Amino acid sequence: MLSTWSFPTRILFGPGAIQPVGHLVGEELNLRRPLLVTDPGIVACGLLDRLTEQLQRAKVAWALFDRVEGNPTEASVFPGVAVYHAEHCDGLVAMGGGSALDAAKAIRLKVTHPLSLEEYDDLKGGSSRIAADLPPMIAIPTTAGTGSEVGRSAVITLEATGRKTVIFSPYLIPSVAIADPELTFGLPPHLTAATGMDAMTHNVEAYLATGYHPMCDAIAIRGVEMVRKYLPLAVKQGENLEARTAMMAAAIMGAVAFQKGLGTVHSLAHPLSTVAGMHHGLSNAILLPHVMRFNAAAAADRLSDVAAALGVDTRNLDACQAAEAAAVAIEQLNATIGILPRLRDHGVREEMIPQMVPLAMQDGCRLLNPRPTSAADMEALYRAAF
Ligand SMILES: [Fe+2]
Repeated sequence: MLSTWSFPTRILFGPGAIQPVGHLVGEELNLRRPLLVTDPGIVACGLLDRLTEQLQRAKVAWALFDRVEGNPTEASVFPGVAVYHAEHCDGLVAMGGGSALDAAKAIRLKVTHPLSLEEYDDLKGGSSRIAADLPPMIAIPTTAGTGSEVGRSAVITLEATGRKTVIFSPYLIPSVAIADPELTFGLPPHLTAATGMDAMTHNVEAYLATGYHPMCDAIAIRGVEMVRKYLPLAVKQGENLEARTAMMAAAIMGAVAFQKGLGTVHSLAHPLSTVAGMHHGLSNAILLPHVMRFNAAAAADRLSDVAAALGVDTRNLDACQAAEAAAVAIEQLNATIGILPRLRDHGVREEMIPQMVPLAMQDGCRLLNPRPTSAADMEALYRAAF
């Protein structure tokens, strides 16, 4: 089968990477008035000032849309489009976690694309309706997890679909990503842990996803090693530059790797955000070991590689034992970084499970999971994690 392999965009990486943003916006991209897209938390904690100081220094004017919600809906998109047009903007600079970056991608799409957002749903062939005429966009992550800064999709919860809807196109990749690990220094431990486990899940699911992609496999397995080694340190010592740098790289690696595909963890996690309001990374962290055990029947050899990357000595284990050891290693990592192991610890109620099963089945991520996942399997996995 033919597939398309593409590696992402230009990435400015390292401490201080945000400093040339003014030059990049004003001179290289020649933007006169970018729309800054962020959320109220980034404004309140002073991170947005780090961006606007640089723009001011380069004498670049801007407009601001700072009302992106966590788990963004249309309310994080259309008011931003209105500001973009009213202020005659000519590009976007998004700063924040996955929500701000994804909302900015949807705003960027809507300023040149007239159809309703659900028409661009990847599950309904929306990708073919997305043309190249999007304005330039710079993505500046303030978490190390989502990897949206180098990703080709925006995940928005739409009223019309009632679910987290993936809008996917190669044209949605930001023009430039600025990955400055110092911007994650102030991220509190619980968010460092949850976003970091999103990166872990991307790397594990990409490695297990069906399909032939040895380049993504190599990136993914190294990403697993790096998250295992550095996430506990980043949680414990927020200003540890080595740990924050490694986590920012591992998050980017996860998103590069998952162009190969994701899996059932993500299909189960998306409804936990829409129905129970859970943080995406937290949902992944809790579900991951359960889905790894479920996948052992189909992908024990691959899980054995994951076990080794997680630091398990696999020499005297058969593939099934190694797969189990990999799941245990994830549970231990969760415990080390302070993530409580049950969904009910995080506000999920049992009666939500029947509501979430059909949403998980509609989610496209499961299609590349190494073991096909039925509705009964989805329910069993939610119950196992409950
Ligand atoms: Fe994710």
